[in-house]
This record gives sequence, structure tokens and C-alpha cells, in this order.
Amino acid sequence: MAFSSPALNVMVAAARKAGRPLIRDFNELENLQISMKGPADFVTSADKRTEKILIDELTKARPGYGFLGEEGGVLKGADATHRFIIDPIDGTTNFMHGIPHFAISIALEREGQLVAGLVYNPVTDDMFTAEKGHGAYLNNKRLRVAARKELAPSVIATGLPFLGKDGHARAAAEMAEVMNVTAGIRRFGAASLDLAWVAAGRFDGFWEHSLQAWDIAAGIVLVREAGGMVTDLRGGAEMLAQGTVLAANENLHPQLLKLFKTIKS
Ligand code: IPD
Ligand code: CA
Ligand code: CA
Repeated sequence: MAFSSPALNVMVAAARKAGRPLIRDFNELENLQISMKGPADFVTSADKRTEKILIDELTKARPGYGFLGEEGGVLKGADATHRFIIDPIDGTTNFMHGIPHFAISIALEREGQLVAGLVYNPVTDDMFTAEKGHGAYLNNKRLRVAARKELAPSVIATGLPFLGKDGHARAAAEMAEVMNVTAGIRRFGAASLDLAWVAAGRFDGFWEHSLQAWDIAAGIVLVREAGGMVTDLRGGAEMLAQGTVLAANENLHPQLLKLFKTIKS
């Protein structure tokens, strides 16, 4: 059985509650009111409602904790030592296109340290959870990062910039290097699940630039607790501040980091 503290239980309950209407919306996409936040960056009524359900549920159980949410930004709580970092729908483009690969992502930060992470795909009912020092789980099954030692048989995930975003040339240069030395690259479109899948040993590694804290905070806990390494793309620990991430097992991480350091950006 998975270790689950009262705080994680609260996060799981909130994600399950928010997940039910999200599946209904996913099945009825045509009824959604869609507003455009920027080029190719859709924000749906589902996004806003999901964040509201999460904040309401988490606040009921943990009044005083603060929030950092994609929709609502920073909400200061009376308790300055705790905050939840939430992405109500990570993988919005997939969601909008009827692709069943998106997730609710919730992390808990205590005194500036990530102590718990949850990534929940409501369509597949995959509930990934982890708590600092207690391991990572998928639906109560203990997770471990993949054991591959060489890049050649490894499958590496990434995220790519799109219309209106910077970094297209860098992404092409990085992919050219990685595809040259690995079994292949995957771009599935939800950074939280990319990290969860590294934790589950499905992907051997994952890298991406230009991310926000809510995309990766929960996934970072998952990878660490599954025995993997997560750093920013300079090899430091500034993933949330810098918005870059490189995750892999302890054998592949240094090899990938070395590769990325040779690429001019
Ligand atoms: C996006 C997804 C995607 C990543 C983007 C994120 P959103 O989050 O995680 O995989 O490549 O950088 O912005 O907008 O779907 O919540
Ligand atoms: Ca996101
Ligand atoms: Ca989102």
C-alpha cells in the first residue's frame, strides 16, 4: 500500500472531485465555452472551474495554506509556510483536441521545499502520488525509474515550443542531438505526465524549457521519490525559478546533461 499522509489524502480527494466534471466536459467538448488567452493557448471554462474546485476543496481541509495556480496566480494564505502549486489541466491542447492525455497536477510546498506531488489523469484514472521520503506510487503500486544505463535503447520525452513561443531553433538543435543517440523522442503534450511517466519507468528521460512551476512541481517529487534525478538544464536545482527541467535515472541524467551543455542556445 502507498504511504499517504493526511495532507496527501486531502490532495487525492480534491483531484478526484475535480476530475469527475472534467471527464464530463471532455466527453462533451462542443458545449464548452472557449476563450482565447493567446495564440494556441486555450483556456476553457473547464480549466477555471477545475481550479476553483481544487482551491475550494483544499481550502476546506487546509484553511490558511496559500496557492500558486495557473489561473488564479498567487493567493497568499495566513499560513506562510505552506502552499499548494496547482495546474488544473496540464495538457490543455490535448484536452481541446479530444486527446485523452491531460492531468490535474497538485504539489505541496512546505517552507519552500516540495514535500508532496500528485498527477492525476482522470480519463485513464491513473493517480500518481509521492511524498518526500516515502516513495512514489501509481494507484498504490510503488514506482521506480527505468534502469537503462545507455542512451541507445532509451526513449526520451520532451516538450516543444509552438506558434508564438520562443526557442524553436534551440528545440530543433536539441532534438537533432538526442535523436542521434537514443531509441527515440516522444512529445505527448503534458509536462506533469511526462515527469510521472519518467517516475513510472515508461520514459527513460524528459527535458523541456520555458515551463511554469505548476507544470512540473508535482512531477519533480514523483521522479525524485521513484529514485530518479531532476535538475534544471544547467544541472542546478532552480527548476521552478528557471523553468527548465531534465529528469532521468542516475546513469542517464549525467549523459543527457553533458549532451545539452554542448548545444548553444
Ligand atoms: C503545457 C503542457 C505542455 C508543455 C507546455 C505547457 P498547459 O501546459 O505541459 O506539455 O509543453 O510548456 O505549457 O498549457 O497544457 O497547462
Ligand atoms: Ca501546464
Ligand atoms: Ca494548464
